[in-house]
Amino acid sequence: MSRTWWRGAAIYQVYLRSFADGNGDGVGDLAGLRGRLPYLKELGIGAIWLNPWYPSPMADGGYDVADYRDIEPVFGTLAEAEKFIAEAHELDIKVIIDVVPNHSSTESAWFEQALSDRSVRERFWFRDEPNDWKSIFGGSAWTQVADGQWYLHLFAPEQPDFNWENPEVHQEFEDVLRFWFDRGVDGFRIDSAALLFKSENSYEDLDEVHDVYRRWREIADSYGERILIGEVWLPDQERFARYLRPDELHTAFNFDFLSCPWDPAELRRVIDLTLATHAPIGAPPTWVLSNHDVTRPVTRYGRADTTFAHGGALHGTPSDLELGYRRARAAALLAMALPGCVYVYQGEELGLPEVEDLPDVVRQDPMYARSDGANPGRDGCRVPLPWSGEEPPFGFGTGTPWLPQPETWRKLTAEAQAADLGSMLNLYRSALALRRDLLGDGTLTWLPLGGPGVLAFTRESGLTCVVNLSSEPVRLPPGEVLLVSGPLEDGTLPPDTAAWVS
Ligand code: NOJ
Repeated sequence: MSRTWWRGAAIYQVYLRSFADGNGDGVGDLAGLRGRLPYLKELGIGAIWLNPWYPSPMADGGYDVADYRDIEPVFGTLAEAEKFIAEAHELDIKVIIDVVPNHSSTESAWFEQALSDRSVRERFWFRDEPNDWKSIFGGSAWTQVADGQWYLHLFAPEQPDFNWENPEVHQEFEDVLRFWFDRGVDGFRIDSAALLFKSENSYEDLDEVHDVYRRWREIADSYGERILIGEVWLPDQERFARYLRPDELHTAFNFDFLSCPWDPAELRRVIDLTLATHAPIGAPPTWVLSNHDVTRPVTRYGRADTTFAHGGALHGTPSDLELGYRRARAAALLAMALPGCVYVYQGEELGLPEVEDLPDVVRQDPMYARSDGANPGRDGCRVPLPWSGEEPPFGFGTGTPWLPQPETWRKLTAEAQAADLGSMLNLYRSALALRRDLLGDGTLTWLPLGGPGVLAFTRESGLTCVVNLSSEPVRLPPGEVLLVSGPLEDGTLPPDTAAWVS
């Protein structure tokens, strides 16, 4: 892969707990992932991004990190992680890991010291009086400790926020980056990247954060082709773009695209805005349809309201899953044809729907408990993957999966789909293979084709992508049809369908 592999990469997100279980305890792990590397190679992705794999009490699925330099024992060992990195590299797959700099775990050594010794509280935000900030997960953002002081946690109480005014915190994270770069990782996905600094009135996007990423970029560059990816949820595109200046992060997730409804004008607007935001700074855009925090596309696109809403506002509203599935296939061809990087969240390639009917007793996401059940949380997109067989655990492992899988997933296993040429899995495989040579980094040219309900553009390789979001069939441009998300009708592209034409 070239030095700039990251500019057009297809990056597969592994939510380790739910990917594959190698030791039979019902929780995904490194042994399971290592065993499935050939599947990922065959899928055709160029990199894996793993959610946090560090020792953690799992109050927030591992985003409560107790030790940044080790592996959660339920997932495996540091030695195994090193083996995994080497094995992925042998297959020419890059490895990106999560780093969580905004907060740690109440079970981290630093926080435990802070509790027992008031003189080392400056690594966190301890105050005699809390302010009125609310936690992003619900409830107050402050929790009181035994001696009467309060500490800040923008997320769960088990996730105390670091104080980035303290140089020791900078030092610590620079060291953590080096620790993992030295072990061969190719990059970091930076959690809550815009939240690190706090002022009296705000905790979002303070200017000081950019100096941190400039320093991190120097470290990454000193290792060669290593990359930094920001989780930056900012509606203001100008502020967003500041994170992608040439001496800061390499890329950031495109949450506007992820949240965009299945609507031609809105999609066109978001794509144009994305391209216009990235072009002047020379950063590649990213195209993201889902991740471990949001409703799966098959369910979302089947609803009357196809936007993504935080807080589970649309949870349980009716979804026509057949329609959602058709649109998710078309959306995949759109995302993979656009210029830049594309992300595939595990299970997206299997067309898994959101599991909306999980029994309340099994829900583990702190969003659910912190909202007194008003928000169902994110467990529905984190259900362990179905690999094979006719009944749960569907080859996920030998134990009972940590979240129950629906019986109906027997039709959606990787095994069943591998054998079906028309499956979502085979669509992803074909698209990723074509994408490697014909798509990725670059630019696009819009084509005036088929009216306002149609998105059509061509890429440098000559590949044209046509997505029909109208209610009428659309005539395709002349050329060889390389891939379609659904059958053509008399040579025309039906509604909610996409095609790649050469
Ligand atoms: C963003 C992560 O994607 C999410 O899963 C997590 O809960 C929050 N950051 C807090 O770490």
